[in-house]
Amino acid sequence: MCGIVGFIGTSNAKNIIIDGLKKLEYRGYDSSGIALFQNGGLKIKKTIGRIANLENAMLGGDYESPGGIGHTRWATHGAPSDVNAHPHSNMAGTIAVVHNGIIENYVELREWLTKEHGVIFLSETDTEVIAHLISLYYENDLVDAVYKAVAKMRGAYAIGAIAANEPDKIVAVRKDSPLVVGLGEDCNFIASDIPALLKYVRKVYLIENNETVILTKNDVKIFDKDRNEIKRDVFHVTWDAVEAEKDGYDHFMLKEIHEQPKCIEETLSRRLTADGKIVLDGISMTKEDIESFNKVCIVACGTAYHAGLVGKTVIEKFAKIPVEVDVASEFRYRDPFVDDKTLFIAISQSGETLDTLAALREAKRRGARVLSVVNVVGSSVSRESDDVFYTWAGPEIAVASTKAYTTQLVCMYLIALYMGLTKGSLDREEFDRVITELKAIPEKLKTLLTKEPVIADLAKTFYKTEQVFFIGRGVDVGVSYEGSLKLKEISYINSFAVAAGELKHGTIALIEQGTLVIALATQDALYEKMVSNVQEVKARGAVVIGFAKEGNQAIENQADKVFYIPECRDEISPLLSVVPLQMLAYYIAKLRGCDIDKPKNLAKSVTVE
Ligand code: M6R
Repeated sequence: MCGIVGFIGTSNAKNIIIDGLKKLEYRGYDSSGIALFQNGGLKIKKTIGRIANLENAMLGGDYESPGGIGHTRWATHGAPSDVNAHPHSNMAGTIAVVHNGIIENYVELREWLTKEHGVIFLSETDTEVIAHLISLYYENDLVDAVYKAVAKMRGAYAIGAIAANEPDKIVAVRKDSPLVVGLGEDCNFIASDIPALLKYVRKVYLIENNETVILTKNDVKIFDKDRNEIKRDVFHVTWDAVEAEKDGYDHFMLKEIHEQPKCIEETLSRRLTADGKIVLDGISMTKEDIESFNKVCIVACGTAYHAGLVGKTVIEKFAKIPVEVDVASEFRYRDPFVDDKTLFIAISQSGETLDTLAALREAKRRGARVLSVVNVVGSSVSRESDDVFYTWAGPEIAVASTKAYTTQLVCMYLIALYMGLTKGSLDREEFDRVITELKAIPEKLKTLLTKEPVIADLAKTFYKTEQVFFIGRGVDVGVSYEGSLKLKEISYINSFAVAAGELKHGTIALIEQGTLVIALATQDALYEKMVSNVQEVKARGAVVIGFAKEGNQAIENQADKVFYIPECRDEISPLLSVVPLQMLAYYIAKLRGCDIDKPKNLAKSVTVE
């Protein structure tokens, strides 16, 4: 997804902006560009491809400047190209803008600007209309022109704008796309996300919807949509820049896989008291509130949706409330049955996923109580929810989500257990047994991670395969979806997950000699049935890798290879079983030479519909 960085100060803006853009690479992009104040004008450079291309294009040139704006673009309107890359400017080249989001009425604005004002467009982007609109209203007052331009626009945007006539200033505005301001010494910054600024600042302002920010090197002012000044508390970033670096691992994904024991421990320990109680910090639900819910709706996208599937199983089991799980992009268009007796749970790592945010707003409009399970502190989803339960996984940089998923699972277990105990649908002994098992997970995971070479060997055997099926039963169905998503998004192998019992209703037609099937058989209650499913696919020539709990060895008679995870209760096994699948996807993608942390066509934070 697009990334914005802006800087105004005394140092060399070019290097600071490029550095910030590199920190946003994880969001996914296809081109980049920069606009700098120079000699009374603006100097703009933009290129398709990696930021290294932009740096090469600037080699040897004079880019000395005290301020400017930069951008990484993830194409929506118009193919990736030099000309479609941001910044975009007005015809005179005196105003430049960078933009993250989509201007929904850009076609009509483009027509109007062309016909009524003789504007000649150079790119196919929606963003270019913003530069021309600002230019149309510009009378040596950039702030006023931005307000007037924004009044004409519909859609989602975070915009950074500069004007050659006002070289001491950046103006930024936000609606539905993330924007933060970094507060430096004799300098200030804007960015789409905090990691872009961590090298330089710890103090930030989190900008809200419909707010406009004016930055000079010594001052930052925030205004609402009616131009009233707003006072904002400074947000102090507590996590370290090195947490956002690779720490010696080849890829962020591998680093994040290995961080899972620590992250799970952190997520748990912040919520468990010494006397065995759960404290849901950030959640103000009373016993009466919980008893008033007649259903729970869990809504999320991708990996977070898969965490929601496990959430359904455990909330229904422990809290005895019916749960629906929906992908966010479908939820709001299906006239959902949601009212003030609904607990709506939004799950999102970034907290900026537009589909999830839109679903959340729809649920709120219908009167639901909104609880979000979010990783990024201060993100849009967290700010718009009634209650927020943070996953505390730290920054997740790799596009393929790993530690966010396992910590989302922990949050779902804690919410389900808390609701069950509070309502009285779960007795204290059972509650204690599950908590004891959850507490044991970090150690079990550490042991599991020592088996990494076994998984790397499996990858060597199977990395050339072009088709994989994942099968499972019970909570293993959701884990199969997650294992399959992980494999396809980073290795580009055609992989597909199906409930094992559904095989015979269609998918089994695709199983032939040599087809790779990954069978998750971690559920004690469903183990024998899974072994039969493995038998079914073996009989049709499949090659099977089985995943089972230590001690459950019957699968060895059927599967070609078996990987064992440590013993645990059925409901919490996803915390363990997903990890070898993450590693398998990682090592297969590595052997196939894929760009693991930034897979093609994908973005870390999906802020468009
Ligand atoms: O930031 P979110 O959790 O809302 O993101 C949701 C999905 O876009 C995300 O999980 C995506 O599926 C990942 N690439 C999966 O690895």
